[in-house]
Amino acid sequence: MNKMAASMVQSGEDAFRKIFKFYKRRNPPPDFSDVIDFSRGEPSDKVVAVKLEPGAVSDVEAARVGLQPVRNWKAFSLQGYPGFIFIPNPFLLGSQPFWVRQCLKIYTQKPNVCNLDMHMSASDTQDIWGKSIHGLSFPPSAKREAKTLLERLRWVTLGYHYNWDTKTYSANHYTPFPAELHLLSVQITAACGFPRFISEAGILNYYRSDSSLGIHVDESELDHSRPLLSLSFGQSAIFLLGGTCRQDPPTAMYMHSGDVMVLSGQSRLLYHAVPRIVPAPQGCASLDMNSHSLDSTLQEHTVLEPVSDQDWAVCSKYIQSSRVNVTIRQVLGPGQNFPETFSTSHPRNEGDQTVERGLADGAFLKRKRSNSCDCVDTVQT
Ligand code: OGA
Ligand code: MN
Repeated sequence: MNKMAASMVQSGEDAFRKIFKFYKRRNPPPDFSDVIDFSRGEPSDKVVAVKLEPGAVSDVEAARVGLQPVRNWKAFSLQGYPGFIFIPNPFLLGSQPFWVRQCLKIYTQKPNVCNLDMHMSASDTQDIWGKSIHGLSFPPSAKREAKTLLERLRWVTLGYHYNWDTKTYSANHYTPFPAELHLLSVQITAACGFPRFISEAGILNYYRSDSSLGIHVDESELDHSRPLLSLSFGQSAIFLLGGTCRQDPPTAMYMHSGDVMVLSGQSRLLYHAVPRIVPAPQGCASLDMNSHSLDSTLQEHTVLEPVSDQDWAVCSKYIQSSRVNVTIRQVLGPGQNFPETFSTSHPRNEGDQTVERGLADGAFLKRKRSNSCDCVDTVQT
């Protein structure tokens, strides 16, 4: 190979990483003018409007989980990314606080698993919310030096709990998936043309303003024909969507609070990353302190429990400087089971128990979130 070709391969291999580093850079800050903002709602040479299936979800079903009628949603895809669907904030005004509260107060509870379990005892991580609300009421530096548990939280897993070391899910590490989050996922995926979605695993990522998520593909699920759903709340992110290999340069887009992304079809297994958290746009209504009381006419049959002023004060404080991303995954196809090697009778099970013991012993002191081959700059634990 001549020198030129070698350098081209070199730069080709680094295309995603190069752009990742470009957007992650602090000094000087990058030029954001190429970042696509779907919330502007303008189709362009790259952004194409997508038709959803309004008939698949009734207005009442949508409202029950805090969504607008599907006919009011806008949906877009990107030229060259079939199966990629971006829905800018389809939530009803005032419904996001419920989902934020679930992510901070409810989904952080046992038996769900989180990064803090890796080096803390079960009793210490028992009540992350309760142990954090007092500290969160004070500015971080002035009255306290220690970070609250909520501020140290980086990820939570739901349903089939993802094992970051083996990069697998297993039949014997499952806890019930939150019913209301499943309902929300079913409505969104149905509107996107995927009936009968089953929410089997969830990963919540908690980002501070300096967090990032390394380049990866979500391929641990056993049926890649099922869509992967992604929801974001709080501060905004730069999301990079690449190709099937690392040399494909990624497309940069904003993900704002309430935005929904569906990775399906040919886009299901594409490389992606979050190089940077950016401030939410000024006047972002969904983050407004006063916008958490839903219209009472919608509250019949709803799964949205009211968020108390006290809870919302903590949540809104938290998301003023943080972002929460929820990905919901169907792990198994219809009628599919985990392979025999994952069953309880196989030696594999001993491996799982070792991991469990390891966690209880505090054996995994500092673990990065990495579910990719060569992750860089993952969300820091
Ligand atoms: C993930 C993921 C993206 C995001 O959790 O696998 O890609 O926007 N999250 O945080
Ligand atoms: Mn991912």
